[in-house]
Amino acid sequence: MNQLQITVNQVFIDNFKKKPMIVRSPGRVNLIGEHTDYNGGFVLPAATDKAAFLAVAPSNLETGKWISIDMKETIEVDFKEIRPLQNHAWANYILGVIQQFENRGMKVQPFDCVMAGDIPIGSGMSSSAALESAVGYAINEINGFGIDKKTLAKLVQQAENEFIGVKCGIMDMFASIHGKENNVIRLNCETLDFEYFPLNLGDHKIVLFDTGVKHNLVESEYNLRRLQCEEGLAFFRKHFDDTIPNLSQVPLAWLQASKSQLNSKVYHRCQYVIEENQRILSACEDLQAGRLNDFGIKMTATHEGLRNLYGVSCSELDFLVDSVWHEKSVLGSRMMGGGFGGCTINLIKSDSIDELYNRLSVKYERKTGIKLKMYCVVTANGTEIVS
Ligand code: GLA
Repeated sequence: MNQLQITVNQVFIDNFKKKPMIVRSPGRVNLIGEHTDYNGGFVLPAATDKAAFLAVAPSNLETGKWISIDMKETIEVDFKEIRPLQNHAWANYILGVIQQFENRGMKVQPFDCVMAGDIPIGSGMSSSAALESAVGYAINEINGFGIDKKTLAKLVQQAENEFIGVKCGIMDMFASIHGKENNVIRLNCETLDFEYFPLNLGDHKIVLFDTGVKHNLVESEYNLRRLQCEEGLAFFRKHFDDTIPNLSQVPLAWLQASKSQLNSKVYHRCQYVIEENQRILSACEDLQAGRLNDFGIKMTATHEGLRNLYGVSCSELDFLVDSVWHEKSVLGSRMMGGGFGGCTINLIKSDSIDELYNRLSVKYERKTGIKLKMYCVVTANGTEIVS
């Protein structure tokens, strides 16, 4: 049994003298298809073995006691007053989800809970979506609401958008909830139709290198990218076809024909999104056909797009990608997630990983003063009750 599962269970029993339900909810990686989710495009994530664990049971009072082992905090929450807490940011990920159920007319029974996780915070592996998904899953179970997984993912996304204020797309929570061991998920973010693809990487592994930085631009710039994409879409609807459902489906020819009319930033953002959505679809074909070299080349092309057109990389991410992409043992390398810090995702030949890491960490530390962390990714199932 996972050590975190044992810990949250024990702390819960010590505090509440009863047995909890335990939900495990994973972090995610994304192989390709970045910043496409909120543009109605495709993404290719997988759930990881790093996860959040939540021990939970109804409290039988109007309040609940919540214990965060990682934050070393215990708070008492009044379920009659669900509003953001200034000094306990972690609790807002729970409160936001409760509020979404209640907004839909589903009264949530107060609960006690204990949580802990091993998803590195700030790494871009979506520790917050994992916690929110765990909470949503647990509330759905305890109260017998019977909502399906897709609806749950949408509810959790709305919690993040409205309560936390980050206008994220649906990829993170969808991947956390729907993950399947040894598989990636090709998700159409417009329709939420998805397919599992077996992850056959031969003698290569998915490796993350963690910059150890999270520039505070991340949320404001993220929300700004959304606005720039919306501006582009509004333009194409006005000048070409008002029924086009999203930016990902805009033909490149429309974009090229509009160069002189679009603000150059908006033009580049749109170019990246349209190209990335085409790239992920052909990258999926590569993966299915076992053309791993081609898949890797597309990952690196995604990085170039995110750096030069979409403007969401940073010097630390670029340094890590530039240092490895030409290595023989590396198929592809790119920044992963929202940007401005977090990790790069790399496909690396298994027997070269340690040697490459040793060289890279010396270089990275010399350049930035930061110790480079590495995570070898193991895929896992999505959010589930483990006891
Ligand atoms: C963050 C968001 C996701 C997605 C990625 C970029 O992780 O939470 O919804 O937009 O950035 O692909």
